[in-house]
Amino acid sequence: MVDLSVEVGGLRLKNPVIAAAGTFGFGTEYARLYDVGLLGGICTKGLTLKPRPGNPPPRLWETPCGLLNSIGLENPGVEAFLQEELPRMRGLGTAVIANIWGETPEEYRELAERLSRSDVDAIELNLSCPNVPGGKIRGGVPEEVARIVGLCRRVCEKPLWVKLPPEGDVLEAAQAAERAGADAVTASNTFRALAIDIEKGRPAFAGRIGGLSGPAIKPIALRVVYELVQKLKLPVIGCGGITSWQDALEFIMAGAHAVQVGTGNFIDPLCIPKIVRGLADWLAGRGMEDLEGVRGCAH
Ligand code: SIN
Repeated sequence: MVDLSVEVGGLRLKNPVIAAAGTFGFGTEYARLYDVGLLGGICTKGLTLKPRPGNPPPRLWETPCGLLNSIGLENPGVEAFLQEELPRMRGLGTAVIANIWGETPEEYRELAERLSRSDVDAIELNLSCPNVPGGKIRGGVPEEVARIVGLCRRVCEKPLWVKLPPEGDVLEAAQAAERAGADAVTASNTFRALAIDIEKGRPAFAGRIGGLSGPAIKPIALRVVYELVQKLKLPVIGCGGITSWQDALEFIMAGAHAVQVGTGNFIDPLCIPKIVRGLADWLAGRGMEDLEGVRGCAH
């Protein structure tokens, strides 16, 4: 019998495969396709204090092996989430991780405080959205990271995860999050990238720069995780271009305690259950009972 369960950043998950924020709605959309209780967890779309309409279209732009997005954090706001979405999510049979975005450090604190009193399992601070002013910079500046994480830590009793950008001083930022009381870091969000609409002769997105995800970024995201794991005591959650169980295993061998799958859900909506099954079969095929002997073996 294979046991895929993992302990990550103060939270026990039935398996290490989590739907990444912004790629899985609030889970109910996918529940029409399969039992999302098979997932280790679901990160919600980034929640803000007030509802946000997001950026004007286009918001998605395909590249040969990736996807650019400029969604702009469209979401119904934390109040609607708590009233309408969370009760439905609780019925899905998997962990709920609330991903949050504040315009200011104080907004992060307010969101963390409200969600800490709710029924979510963990809170993930999004310090790395490239599609709103200041998004990337915030997660790449260790002092900013320390300030936001510290404010949230004081009011939040739930496990507190911090989603970092892949660029900037990632190691310094992750260490700042660790010192300020984070329980885990998610590495990483999308890479700042650009597409130009050649018919119009200008950037495809109104906000010009978007975030690149998908297989194109996997080796770079993997390298970030590999390096972070060597320096941090905190668990690292790997994220970036994972579309198969083999990808997930690479991140775990690099030392990740769990992985998040984002763009993979758009390529194949059944991607996550296939990854979970693939990991279990791989372990069983080697007579292994869990991931303990595998995590970090590539170091
Ligand atoms: C967005 O809503 O623009 C994407 C969120 C993110 O990359 O953090």
